[in-house]
Amino acid sequence: MQYYPQYSPKQKWIHWVSAVITIIVSLILFVKLPASYFFDGMSHVYSLHKSLGVVIFILTIWRIYVVIEDKIPDVLPKNKKLPRVLSKSVQGLIYILLFILPLSGYLMSSNPLNVFGIVSIPSIYMPNTYYTFFHTLHKCGSHILILLLMLHIVGALYHYFWLKDKVLQSMLKNS
Ligand code: HEM
Ligand code: HEM
Repeated sequence: MQYYPQYSPKQKWIHWVSAVITIIVSLILFVKLPASYFFDGMSHVYSLHKSLGVVIFILTIWRIYVVIEDKIPDVLPKNKKLPRVLSKSVQGLIYILLFILPLSGYLMSSNPLNVFGIVSIPSIYMPNTYYTFFHTLHKCGSHILILLLMLHIVGALYHYFWLKDKVLQSMLKNS
């Protein structure tokens, strides 16, 4: 059996669970079509978007903790300078956005944040310009995240189908 660097089981779980939730959260508001197919009112879509956004926030904090504990495996060869810088920059920016987006989503509203109808987080009172600032940050940030995710996914598929190395396998089940 060939050896290749692996993410820890916890890192793989967090990666795939956050990946699925992030794609749903982004798609239901960015491309409104699937949402309007499954829900009869947009208010349900916004509630789901916000609650799942909070789940992503919690997963991201846990993820940072797990990265510090388990460390990131060295997946790309040391001599591949440009691909290493590119992939690490994209991954780093994704981390930052997965942190900033739920926060800006929460801070851009003057209404309490209701999480799955279970917990209600009171809003923070601020002058209107601050709400507008966080709204713009949320919109721009979410568009940047979608671009980065496209690069990230195309990159992973390029490694698997074109370069035929073990980068994708490092994030899949141990074989
Ligand atoms: C079909 C979709 C996806 C595939 C095939 C995929 C694949 C991978 C692979 C192979 C790695 C390891 C690469 C390396 O170490 O150089 C990785 C890391 C990473 N991916 Fe993805 N990914 C996908 C979707 C996503 C999504 C939607 C997110 C955002 C929530 C995401 C966030 C990350 C992050 C932050 C890392 C860095 C390592 C970590 O802490 O988990 N990925 N991905
Ligand atoms: C990682 C988590 C999140 C991601 C990836 C994300 C992504 C997005 C995207 C792609 C849009 C559509 C932007 C557009 O129409 O151009 C959006 C809009 C929105 N998001 Fe989020 N979001 C997240 C978390 C949150 C949270 C936690 C909240 C609230 C507590 C929130 C509240 C909203 C609202 C109210 C809108 C509609 C804004 C408008 O149309 O003017 N989001 N978000």
